[in-house]
Amino acid sequence: MEITLQGKTAFIAGGTSGINLGIARAMVREGARVAVLSRSQDKVDAAVAELNDIAGASTTLGFAADVRQGDAVEAAMAEAAEIMGPLDIVVSGAAGNFLAPAEALSSNAFRAVMEIDLLGTFHVMSSAFRHAREGKASFINISAPQASIPFWGQAHVCSAKAGVDMLTKTLALEWGPKGIRVNAIVPGPIANTEGMARLAATPELEEIAKVSVPSRRFGEADEVATAAVYLASDQAAYVNGAIFCVDGGQVVGGATLMQPDVLNMMSS
Ligand code: HXC
Ligand code: NAP
Repeated sequence: MEITLQGKTAFIAGGTSGINLGIARAMVREGARVAVLSRSQDKVDAAVAELNDIAGASTTLGFAADVRQGDAVEAAMAEAAEIMGPLDIVVSGAAGNFLAPAEALSSNAFRAVMEIDLLGTFHVMSSAFRHAREGKASFINISAPQASIPFWGQAHVCSAKAGVDMLTKTLALEWGPKGIRVNAIVPGPIANTEGMARLAATPELEEIAKVSVPSRRFGEADEVATAAVYLASDQAAYVNGAIFCVDGGQVVGGATLMQPDVLNMMSS
């Protein structure tokens, strides 16, 4: 069975680094034409250059915008669809994270993560609906184990990503009859990412994170990208509303028991 994205268009919000850039690379390799969006113009330019190298042509589009601004997301996606044609694939992966005990979170700290992860995903999904190929499109939200397991120092992220999972399922229900599939990917802890640099900044925390994964290792960005390519492909035509874990079993293992010392380590 050959999985290909040949001839498809993809818009990847947060696609300029880490896991989401890995997804963009894989989609370009499989033949999709890709647009990426994030806040930093420098990161956008670097990602576009790298993706053009893979494509062997200057076909990648880049947009500097903040997913918290619905109008800016809409303008970028409208321009992308105008240039590339209707969108076959939309990935919503922008997110913010830091470790902080709940009592240390200001209203603005909690709001910042809710607005990037959850409101941002709503903005990306709303625009995606308007610019999707009629009758056949695949939308993928990047969630996290935090959506279903409480983690120490992650009250803001757990709340936001739980919302992302439920938004995913609700949109799958509402948009399925229109030919739009909406799924989420739950990466476990992934090596060499900003996320894990923030959550496991010391060898001790890294060890705790690894022990919390039944497969006893961090995942690779490529392993997440393979799942994204599958969900985006026609082979996944009957997959809708799935919360698709690429997490070495972390969600079924339950990370909470492994982390009682995390807050102590943060403050020492
Ligand atoms: C407590 C903190 C804090 C910290 C920031 N804040 N860091 N509070 N502890 N460590 C507070 C600030 O004081 C401020 O509140 C509020 O949060 C907003 O901060 P700003 O810096 O003004 O916000 P902004 O510039 O919008 O940046 C958003 C951000 C930032 C989330 C804080 O870190 C960011 O841009 N992150 C994007 C990259 C990222 O996080 N990548 C990792 C994604 S990984 P006050 O009250 O002072 O105004 C991920 C992993 C999930 O999501 C699962 C892994 C297993
Ligand atoms: P990352 O490299 O920091 O990626 C985040 C991306 O989002 C960057 O391209 C960033 O670029 C962009 N971004 C951040 N805030 C934005 C905003 N307000 N508007 C637009 N773009 C914004 O992080 P990562 O670790 O690879 O994580 C990627 C995704 O995977 C996130 O959804 C995260 O929650 C999820 N995840 C990660 C892990 C992990 O182990 N790393 C585990 C589970 C889930 P700019 O800075 O230019 O905006």
